[in-house]
Amino acid sequence: MKQTVLVMFGGKSTEHDVSLVSASSVIRNIPTDKYNILTLGITKDGSWYLYRGDAKNIENGTWQQGDIKKAVLSPDPADGGLLVFTENGTTTRKVDVIFPVLHGKNGEDGTMQGLLELSEIPYVGCGHLSSAVTMDKAFTNLIADFHNIKQAKWLATDRTGYDPSVADQAAEKLGYPIFVKPANAGSSVGISKAHDHAELLAAIDKAFAVDDKIVFEETVVGKEIECAVLGNGDNFASILGEIAPAAEFYDYDAKYVSDSRLFIPARLEPTVAQAVQETAKKVYACMDCRGFSRVDFFITADNEIYFNEINTIPGFTGISMYPKLMEASGTPYPALIDRLLQLAVERKKRR
Ligand SMILES: Nc1ncnc2c1ncn2[C@@H]1O[C@H](COP(=O)(O)OP(=O)(O)OP(=O)(O)O)[C@@H](O)[C@H]1O
Ligand SMILES: [Mg+2]
Repeated sequence: MKQTVLVMFGGKSTEHDVSLVSASSVIRNIPTDKYNILTLGITKDGSWYLYRGDAKNIENGTWQQGDIKKAVLSPDPADGGLLVFTENGTTTRKVDVIFPVLHGKNGEDGTMQGLLELSEIPYVGCGHLSSAVTMDKAFTNLIADFHNIKQAKWLATDRTGYDPSVADQAAEKLGYPIFVKPANAGSSVGISKAHDHAELLAAIDKAFAVDDKIVFEETVVGKEIECAVLGNGDNFASILGEIAPAAEFYDYDAKYVSDSRLFIPARLEPTVAQAVQETAKKVYACMDCRGFSRVDFFITADNEIYFNEINTIPGFTGISMYPKLMEASGTPYPALIDRLLQLAVERKKRR
């Protein structure tokens, strides 16, 4: 019997457009001999629609002009899926497993995972707690510190705790240049690198425009290395990837517009690469991750390993690092999707 998988895409998030591209890749690669596919789109305003049609219209953002019906996921386990609103009332569509291909806010930050938990339908990826914690750079840094995972020196403040002396404290503790980031964002939105006091004040304003909490970090000079991790406890760490950014830092443009160069495998000595893989698994375990996550690092010239961040729903486009790393490690894209869906079902069974 084929299982019905629900792919969720879009979302009220600054990463809405990336989600469209990730989701269309996922849809094209779901093994259709094993799964029926339902697709649910969430608009930039947060409205939900069951969409029937080609994945290319998800990718190019025109799906809303196609066959859509208002629908929501029921939090009531008795419904077991979607409530679809029709002219004659409401119908239910049963769902066996959900793949929320949603990046950033309202998708990757635990809010959606809370609803998915209530529905009792298995879903791909981390639970609500680890999704929320890893979305917040201050909480993530706290937990990494607690577990002695090396990372850049840092400082956090929220809007109410902020006064201009915080900028001086950051400069004293971290030294210039300083990275300033909104605690909750993604895709480098609101992030700047400040080289002096004036730039620091501007960077603080920019980050506060995105979030009420911001994080300051010392600048780590090194290679940017990423590792794909997969599993529900008995975890697998992939071959590493390296990003040689085209811009001064790997910002939104460098990521999605210009062509940053990728190296797979990363240009590291084998013993260093192995240590990075072990650290990636440690981070994944500390953050209580399930299913999959991409763990990102900086590796300095003398091979010191600095944890940077973890993405619980990493980019999944045809050119994204996570699927590329898994492919290089022996799991092609369709098998990867199948594995992620299986992990979702296994996790639900275990509880
Ligand atoms: N402490 C740091 N030292 C050096 N470079 C940094 C530091 N923090 C961030 N960067 C640079 O800025 C980029 C974006 O930072 P970060 O990965 O924290 O943000 P993000 O928006 O959450 O990213 P993503 O799009 O991967 O979710 C990094 O890829 C790196 O190039
Ligand atoms: Mg990053």
